[in-house]
Amino acid sequence: MTEAIAEARLEAPVLDIDPFTEEILPDPYAFHETLREKAAVVVLAPYGIYATGRYEEVKAVMSDHERFMAGAGTGMYDLRKPGAWRPRSPLLEVDPPEHTSLRTVLTRIISPIVVRKWRADFEKEAERIADKVVDMGEFDAVRDIAEAFVLTVFPSALGVDIPHENAVAIGDMNFNAIGPNNDIFQRSLKKVEPILEWYQKSFQRESMIPGGFGEQIYLAEEAGELPPGSAPGIVRSFIRGGMDTTNAGIGFTLNQLARDPAQWARVRADPSLVRGAFEEAIRHESPSQTQFRTTTRETVLGGVKLAADRKIAVFIGAANRDPRQWNRAGDFLIDRQTAGIHLAFGAGAHNCIGQMIARLEADIILAAIARRVAAIELAGPPSYRIINTLRTLEKLPLRVTRA
Ligand code: HEM
Repeated sequence: MTEAIAEARLEAPVLDIDPFTEEILPDPYAFHETLREKAAVVVLAPYGIYATGRYEEVKAVMSDHERFMAGAGTGMYDLRKPGAWRPRSPLLEVDPPEHTSLRTVLTRIISPIVVRKWRADFEKEAERIADKVVDMGEFDAVRDIAEAFVLTVFPSALGVDIPHENAVAIGDMNFNAIGPNNDIFQRSLKKVEPILEWYQKSFQRESMIPGGFGEQIYLAEEAGELPPGSAPGIVRSFIRGGMDTTNAGIGFTLNQLARDPAQWARVRADPSLVRGAFEEAIRHESPSQTQFRTTTRETVLGGVKLAADRKIAVFIGAANRDPRQWNRAGDFLIDRQTAGIHLAFGAGAHNCIGQMIARLEADIILAAIARRVAAIELAGPPSYRIINTLRTLEKLPLRVTRA
């Protein structure tokens, strides 16, 4: 036992709340506060795992793969133990040094030079969508802006044909599967049963449309740059990580701006401010709410003693509103300058590899809207989808006035 462990006085206190419920998921903020204020780390009684919601500790867990490994799964269940039903991601659920070489190859495949070439196509699609919603005047921004845009441009860049309705159902299932095997997960699994065969095929070699970066991943595997057999799982990780999160962030930005005419006026006057607005929106509501790691050894976190080989849940959504880190944490402030500080894209070795793609998509669609829309307001109450580890809007009714 190290000295630090011997000195740590606190055992993790027990918090007997299940956050993965229909009651808490649509509005998790009271739970987040309880989690943060109870202790730096608690034992989440319904699951017998550790959990933290404080900024410093969430960042520490995500940044330190030596003490908190991803290799036993970044979901709630330990992939090394019997009964694990999720296939391992050959990218996210692998630790350095193995992860480092994969990541280097993939970073080259989606380098800034490659991504910059997508801009013209993304802009064309954004202009089309923005013209359409301005003509409509009243619409659902989740379906008619966020999904219409992301579910078109992202699969096209990846080079995979994904029908919109399939993408939404698969997204629900994937982000439920990161959390507990509860009714919410089981319902989403049932919903995708009819399309599971299509889904399994969608990330195989023969489904890659030439010219997309999915094809490049297969070519890199064929060239021996990626481990044999890893390409399907890597493409699947891009499908999983790339769409629902970005949809959510675009929806959150529009939701907040529609409630705040003064901040909308500023974005109108200078559409480049959409970048800060998007970044703040993903801090404020954190699309990827919860991820998991596993302790590799007995250790101390925030003064709390942790046992070896135990799962720990990191509540990114709670950390991104931790008052220890943020002033007016619950407010949406487009000037906050949060890029690189908030944890919406994670931290450490696995920090989001697609973040510049997400930013590019958000910049382009939000600026196209800002250029055309003088005023924007809610046309009805927004609602949230209920998903174990993803926060995202179900509906966002908006009314806009043409500029
Ligand atoms: C607002 C949009 C997005 C958010 C909030 C987000 C969030 C995250 C987070 C929190 C992680 C770290 C997970 C962990 O450490 O356990 C991550 C990793 C990842 N993201 Fe994103 N993401 C977004 C967009 C994207 C896009 C557009 C892509 C695809 C181009 C993508 C692909 C990935 C992949 C492949 C990983 C795993 C990286 C690795 O293991 O090295 N994400 N993302």
